[in-house]
Amino acid sequence: MTEILHKLTLGKLPLTYRFLFTSFLLVVGLGLCMAGAQIMLTHGMADGKPGLSMDDIVYSYYGNRSGSKLESALTGKMKDKAPASVNITLIKWVRDDAPEAEWAKVGPLFEQHCSKCHDAESGLPEVTKLEVAKSLAEVDHGESISSLTRVSHIHLFGISFIFLFVGLIFAMAEFNPFWKIVLITTPFAFLVLDVASWWLTKFWPECAWFTMIGGLGYSLAALIMFGASFAQMWLPRWTQK
Ligand code: HEC
Repeated sequence: MTEILHKLTLGKLPLTYRFLFTSFLLVVGLGLCMAGAQIMLTHGMADGKPGLSMDDIVYSYYGNRSGSKLESALTGKMKDKAPASVNITLIKWVRDDAPEAEWAKVGPLFEQHCSKCHDAESGLPEVTKLEVAKSLAEVDHGESISSLTRVSHIHLFGISFIFLFVGLIFAMAEFNPFWKIVLITTPFAFLVLDVASWWLTKFWPECAWFTMIGGLGYSLAALIMFGASFAQMWLPRWTQK
């Protein structure tokens, strides 16, 4: 059995298997690109700027605890929408945990100064509605524990299967045996590092580095395995030996 397994090389596989593996790798590669694009579009924009940065990862998992969205709007981009005295009243309401009892006082202020842009058609949050204003007034604690557990287990199960098959294909490549083992196992290690880093960042924002390292690590290992597998399945150097 081991004899046969050792003799199996990508270049000598029947065409059927080479087409099957090539199709699989192409679709998985496309999936990985989509995953990358999705990360850029969701987490990448968490700090309001395009591109993935440490701030994005910190905002996504740890949250932006310096204040609520409403407060940062009122002291930032939306500062000039209402007179300073109104801003101060609104910020005070936010800092008092948005009490409903005072809505009779602040509701009309939102209506007067914000409703002309923040209406139902605009797609902007309707700050003139109590529930909306209240949720924007909450301090952002990042991803919740329940959503982290959900995303973690899907990620661990799903991605380990992808690496199992990518690894099985790459295992038939002619490669330095030591580096082959390294390349086949690192994606799993980086996967665990990646998922662990989300949890660590939730509590210690400095750990956002591990998310970057984990993501880059398994992308790199996958890239090498993909490249070597494609080359050895199709280039004459390996198929005609
Ligand atoms: C002249 C139009 C205009 C007025 C008036 C206005 N806004 Fe905005 N607001 C916008 C636009 C456009 C954006 C999105 C722009 C961006 O994010 O760069 C925005 C974004 C926001 C956001 C961020 C939403 C999010 O999900 O991150 C908040 C909060 C906000 N506004 C609150 C207010 C409040 C409170 C007022 C009234 C004091 C107000 N805005 C008045 C146009 C307006």
